[in-house]
Amino acid sequence: LPRVFSGMQPTSDSLHLGNYLGALRQWVAVQEDHDAFYCVVDLHAITVEVAPDVLRQRTRRTAAQYLAAGVDPDRSTVFVQSHAPEHAQLAWVLGCITGFGEASRMTQFKDKSVRGGSDRSSVGLFTYPILQAADILLYGTHLVPVGEDQRQHLELTRDLAQRFNARFGETFVVPEPYILGSTAKIMDLQDPTAKMSKSAQSATGLVDLLDDPKVVAKRIRSAVTDTGREVRFDREEKPGVSNLLGILAALTGATPEAVAAGYEGKGYGDLKADVAEVVLAELAPFQQRFTELLADPAELDRVLAAGALRAREVASVTLARASDRVGFLPAG
Ligand code: TYM
Repeated sequence: LPRVFSGMQPTSDSLHLGNYLGALRQWVAVQEDHDAFYCVVDLHAITVEVAPDVLRQRTRRTAAQYLAAGVDPDRSTVFVQSHAPEHAQLAWVLGCITGFGEASRMTQFKDKSVRGGSDRSSVGLFTYPILQAADILLYGTHLVPVGEDQRQHLELTRDLAQRFNARFGETFVVPEPYILGSTAKIMDLQDPTAKMSKSAQSATGLVDLLDDPKVVAKRIRSAVTDTGREVRFDREEKPGVSNLLGILAALTGATPEAVAAGYEGKGYGDLKADVAEVVLAELAPFQQRFTELLADPAELDRVLAAGALRAREVASVTLARASDRVGFLPAG
């Protein structure tokens, strides 16, 4: 079976609708006919300051949300990045074939370091995409289901794989991004020109998957719409309405244009009511499963321990091959 790898940072108590529609839903779909590895990337999460207890809690909660969304641990490997030390080890090697200028061009680093003040950002934040490349390359990954904001990191990953292969001989599979156009970038409900993000200035534009249904409904009802009254799919002229149409389309399996056609003679209020209804229907079973999973931490830990074993089986073979290729002596 072709391999899939993807991951999310445990940087908040709840994933949001962008994470879900942009990535997690695709993870669930592709696990049917791929050998999938889904990782909670806690090493990435410490690139910004976080209290140890908070990190532990978020790591567990993020894993539980993968499962609550339908990732099946009997089919897919679900694990925590720090449980497989191969990730950090390969990242070092890849860092040594990455140009300083090349790493400096990563726009996510530029965005994040500008926000925090560039002199206050860590070296870890700078080398973040190299660790991401290691995550992916360790598993001989063919496909990486992510949102649009990860495209540049995927390009770097491909460049590093090709460079390593050219310099040291065929070692890594060159992965392809799997980015679904219609849900690749879910926008903030209050500022539909910015992507929905955990680090948004205000939470009111965010739909957290674990939010109270009343809060979710209110956020959707208060979404910023556009001038005029006509419901039409037009990202340039009607970014707010188009974002809502995109969400509704994704959850009902139609195209945004087809969904829009159903609102002839209706208004923004009708659209918002329908979006709220469909989102809440999607979240109800998710929240239910999440609560059950969190009530049995021993079972969750068992899943993660089994996942780590399986991940290391694969990762250690790739790391050993890469280490040999660069000229490290075998340990014994
Ligand atoms: P993270 O944790 O920021 O986001 C997790 C996933 O959610 C997607 N996403 C979105 N998709 C659509 N609309 C949005 N508004 C939106 N916001 C977030 C992201 O594209 C991502 O797929 N660097 C990665 C984590 C990572 C990783 C990896 C991913 C580490 N190693 C290896 C894939 C493969 C990140 O920060 O994701």
